[in-house]
Amino acid sequence: MQDNPETRAALPVLPARALPAGTLQLTINGKPFYHRGDPAMPLVWYLRDTLRLTGTKFACEGGCSGACTVLVDGKASASCRLAMLDAAGHAITTIEGLDANGLHPVQQAWIELDVIQCGYCQAGQIMAAVALVERTPNPAESDIAAIGNLCRCGTYPHIRAAILRASELVRARKP
Ligand code: FES
Ligand code: FES
Repeated sequence: MQDNPETRAALPVLPARALPAGTLQLTINGKPFYHRGDPAMPLVWYLRDTLRLTGTKFACEGGCSGACTVLVDGKASASCRLAMLDAAGHAITTIEGLDANGLHPVQQAWIELDVIQCGYCQAGQIMAAVALVERTPNPAESDIAAIGNLCRCGTYPHIRAAILRASELVRARKP
């Protein structure tokens, strides 16, 4: 089966034994995809070049900037450092698939506090923040500081405030 973004919504999840040899099955934003190319290719290229999910950005290729952050089974991960082989079998979420019902509380907080400047780092910042507030709905300053994603525009004070606001929204939506 070829990679084909136009038919991805219709693709079924196949049992592993039904896949042609060398085919990797990935789950991205809740949908199955099949990759028969280089298993060592970084996930970020598949997201951007094959699926055209260009919300995930590319910067340092070294796991330092966080611009390429996606969620892997809910954990913030650098997609430039994750091979397709290692991404297979996990639930990958990009900024495009964050919340099927509208905006995630982190996105709401980002808008409310007008965080963004040039915007290049912001998808990665948001994904890292989502991983944090979903795991730790009442984050400490040290939890926020530990995120480590870089922003050349220096939006860190706004990001910090938005994470605190997002954590309020997340707590409010939990029963
Ligand atoms: S591009 Fe992946 S961490 Fe910088
Ligand atoms: S908003 Fe410009 S790099 Fe972060």
